[in-house]
Amino acid sequence: MKRKMLWGSATASYQCEGAWDLDEKVESMWDRYLHENGLENGDVASDHYHHYEEDIRMMAEGGQNAYRFSLSWPRIIRDLEGNVNEKGLAFYDTLIDTCHRYHIEPFVTIYHWDLPQYLEDIGGWQNIETAYHFEKYCETVFRHFNGKVRFWSTFNEPKWFIFSGYMSGNYPPCHRNIPEVIRGSYNVMFASALGVRKFREMKTEGEIGLVASYQTIYGLDESTETLNAMRHADNYCNNWQVDTACLGEFPSDMVDKLKEQGYDLSFAKEEELQIIRENTVDFIGINYYSPMYIKPYTDGETLVKANNQGKNYKGDLRSVVKGWFEVANDDMKDIIPHNPWGMFVYPQGLYDALTRVSSYIKQPIYVTENGYGAYEEISNDIDDQYRIDYIREHIRYLLKAKEDGVDVNGYFVWSPFDLYSWKNGCEKRYGLVAVDFDNDCRRIPKHSYYWYKSNIENDFIDLRKEEKQMRNIVLVCNGGMSTSILANRIKELGGDGVEVNAYGEQEYSQHLKDADVVLIGPQIRYLIDDIRKRVGENVPVASIEPRVYGAMNAQKVLEMVDELLKDSK
Ligand code: BG6
Repeated sequence: MKRKMLWGSATASYQCEGAWDLDEKVESMWDRYLHENGLENGDVASDHYHHYEEDIRMMAEGGQNAYRFSLSWPRIIRDLEGNVNEKGLAFYDTLIDTCHRYHIEPFVTIYHWDLPQYLEDIGGWQNIETAYHFEKYCETVFRHFNGKVRFWSTFNEPKWFIFSGYMSGNYPPCHRNIPEVIRGSYNVMFASALGVRKFREMKTEGEIGLVASYQTIYGLDESTETLNAMRHADNYCNNWQVDTACLGEFPSDMVDKLKEQGYDLSFAKEEELQIIRENTVDFIGINYYSPMYIKPYTDGETLVKANNQGKNYKGDLRSVVKGWFEVANDDMKDIIPHNPWGMFVYPQGLYDALTRVSSYIKQPIYVTENGYGAYEEISNDIDDQYRIDYIREHIRYLLKAKEDGVDVNGYFVWSPFDLYSWKNGCEKRYGLVAVDFDNDCRRIPKHSYYWYKSNIENDFIDLRKEEKQMRNIVLVCNGGMSTSILANRIKELGGDGVEVNAYGEQEYSQHLKDADVVLIGPQIRYLIDDIRKRVGENVPVASIEPRVYGAMNAQKVLEMVDELLKDSK
């Protein structure tokens, strides 16, 4: 099925809405935890609850055609009995209607971490009952919003909220307990499958997926030990979300490893595993920000650190998963650029993530989050060139993956406007639009907002052109030494991204398929019409003038290729 490419941006209810106790919303686990500990909270956040119209209008005016946001469970379901807060539903009705009015596709996440406190009180994600409550919550929202929403995701990043809540201990409920990590992960993936099953039972319109956090895994070397450690890290970071949602199975070598280490997995019931198997998703969302570098485990107990104090990152985030791997990011801190929170910037990681995932799943993919967090002074002119660079390079790799056959259909910047960045507070800003938190949450578009707008509007033509310049040049000639020398010289000058292949009159016709540009030697110019017919109008074809044909003119030929590719788009 041909899908419309979505170019949008993403938020989460707790991080942007504010209005934490308005219109009968009940307390979430984050409200309770941040209030009790006197920490910076999202009581007001970006006040999206009152600014949604302005925000969505700005998305539309910014060229975007999709908005990924989450529903707040405690705004919609009041209690354990499942009583519904009509005012909560009404808020999202208005939000979704506003999206439609501005021709913005609503891309709805059902759970983005703000668990109702009444569920945390019964054990939260440790209690399988929470999964059944999730199923009922899904039923309510599918019934209510059916027909208005085409894209649903059950969960945002199971890995991140479970591991932060039960392993690093920096998110509520702030535990550090490996069996709880395992149990919580299982319960969430089971809840997701229950949500997918409900979606289908109710014949809800549209598609349902899951959004996974994705850290592309790289090793410091290619030894067998490192490769093994990388596989463990991939299971730990990515596969238990992606494989379970898309293939219906937890990675079997991960399950074996857990058993081998003595963890009790007997809680997993066959009928639950069957539900997971039978209810795989329609699409997968990938949130990619950073890669992870890995080395083999040496010693020490499991310890996973998080940096919530950006200015302090000095390469001191040594994290270890006992018996599995060690995180080697600290070893790479002088080699790979990173932001003040130690988040590595490696755009090719997105390409590698997309090609890797698409090599073994059949579902279409959406890049549901990608963005750059920074400290920023608020003024009327915010020059966030670093964010433009970050987004541009990631989109470049997304387009390359798409061109190489990956079924990727959307890209969402995190975030359309500044919001509350969990434990990093509001000073870690990701927005295309600034929020002046001290001045009634006034919105001010940054340079990146305009960059994204103009590039969506021109279909990222500049990025595609640059890509084009690194393509396959087919040289059709009547053979001979001079041609092969010319071809080699063009290749030398063009560097890594240029492929030059020379073919004679007898053989060229079979080799035009992958050509990005075709150049014809002067003596066989008469073939030009035939070649044009064969390659179609998207591939430029030109003959080389006799005076330019020769190795010493390779630079001129390359310039000619540049010109042809520029004009062809
Ligand atoms: C993703 C989450 O993990 O990354 C968002 O889905 C989060 O909720 C974003 O805000 C950026 O992470 P952070 O911690 O820098 O806000």
